Amino acid sequence: MTMNEPHGGALVDRIDLTYDYSAILSEIELDSMALSDLELISIGAYSPITGFMGQEDYHRVVHEMRLASGHIWSIPITLPVSQQVAGTLEIGEKVRLTYEGVVYGILKLQEKYTPDKQVEAENVFRTCDIAHPGVKKLLERPEVYLAGPVTLVRRPEKKFTEFYLDPTETRKAFAARGWKTIVGFQTRNPVHRAHEYIQKSALEIVDGLFLNPLVGETKSDDIPADIRMESYQVLLTTYYPQDRVLLAVFPAAMRYAGPREAIFHAMVRKNYGCTHFIVGRDHAGVGSYYGTYDAQRIFGNFTEEELGITPLFFEHSFYCRKCGNMASAKTCPHGKEEHVVLSGTKVRAMLSSGEVPPPEFSRPEVVEVLIRGMRTSAR
Ligand code: ADX
Repeated sequence: MTMNEPHGGALVDRIDLTYDYSAILSEIELDSMALSDLELISIGAYSPITGFMGQEDYHRVVHEMRLASGHIWSIPITLPVSQQVAGTLEIGEKVRLTYEGVVYGILKLQEKYTPDKQVEAENVFRTCDIAHPGVKKLLERPEVYLAGPVTLVRRPEKKFTEFYLDPTETRKAFAARGWKTIVGFQTRNPVHRAHEYIQKSALEIVDGLFLNPLVGETKSDDIPADIRMESYQVLLTTYYPQDRVLLAVFPAAMRYAGPREAIFHAMVRKNYGCTHFIVGRDHAGVGSYYGTYDAQRIFGNFTEEELGITPLFFEHSFYCRKCGNMASAKTCPHGKEEHVVLSGTKVRAMLSSGEVPPPEFSRPEVVEVLIRGMRTSAR
C-alpha cells in the first residue's frame, strides 16, 4: 500500500450527469446534510462508501467504528425519511433524490430500517443530551433510514467554484506541485495564529499543506463560510508560501462529534490525497462534551497501517508573551498569565462588536475581513 492510496484502495465515482431518470417516478426530498452526503459519496470523498448505509454497515460503524468490510469508518452516513414516506417506497425500486424540488441523485433502495437513535447518539456523540448540536440534529431528522447505492445526476451549485475540488482534482493538483507528503487541515473557524502555528509546524516536515475548511452546514453561531473563505485567502497571500499550500473547500456538514469526527475527517482527507492530518486540541468538539485530547487518543484504537494516513497531534497552542513567540504547553515553561488565549465565543463577540482581537491572537488582515464580514452579515 502506498501512503496516500484512497481508503479501501480506489476512489469511488458515482457521478453520471447523463443518467436518464425519466422512467423513475418515486421521489424523496433531501435535507441539506443528505444532499451534501450524496455529493461527497459520489465524488469519492467518502470512499469506499458507495451509498447511504444499510443495517450491517450502520451497526458496525455505530458499535465498532468499522464498515461491514472491516474498513475504519466512524460516522454513520444515513438517509432519514418519515415512516409515512418510507411506507410509499418498495425495496428494489429506484428513487429520485431531490433538493428544493430539483433532482440531484438516484437511490437504488435496498433497505429501510428504524435505528435506535439513543444508541447512535451515545456511541457517536458520547451523549444523548439534546443540547448537543449533533445530537439535536440526529433526533430532529426523521425516524426511518433508507439505504442503497446512489448516483449523482446533477452537481449541487458550487458556492466557491475556484476552490471546489473533487478528490481526483486535489490528487492531480498535489502531483502537479510535486508534493509527495501532504498534511490536511480541517477547520470550521477562521485561521487564527494558533492554527497557523500548527499548520506551519507540520509544514516543516511535509511538502505541502492542504487547507480544507468545512463549508457545509454548521451551527448558527459559527462564522459563515463566505466570510471565512475571504479571510483564508487574505491570510494565505500575506503569510504563506504560495507554492506550499492549496486551499479547497470541504462541502460537508459539521457533526460536532469530536473524537469520532476526527477519524472521519482523517479518512476523508486521505481520499483527497493527504498523507498526514492535523489533530489539535478538542478537534470538532463543542461545549465541554469531550476531553481536550480525546480526539487524539481515539487514533490509538487503530494501527497506522489500517488508517493509511499519519495523524499529527498538537497540544493547545497560543502566543506566549514571555517567550515572544507561538508555543504550546509542550514547549513553553511559562504560566497562563503570559499566554494570549481567547475562547471562540469571546472572539465572535469581539468581532461582532467591532472590537479587534490582539495581533498575537489573529493576524490584523484576517481580523479586518472578519469584522467587515460580520458587520455586513448582521445587517
Ligand atoms: S474543528 O473543525 O476541528 O471544529 P477548529 O477550527 O476549531 O475546527 O480546529 C481546527 C483544528 O485546529 C483542529 O484540529 C483543532 O484541534 C485545532 N486547534 C484549534 N485551535 C487550537 C489551539 N489553540 N491549539 C492547538 N490546536 C488547535
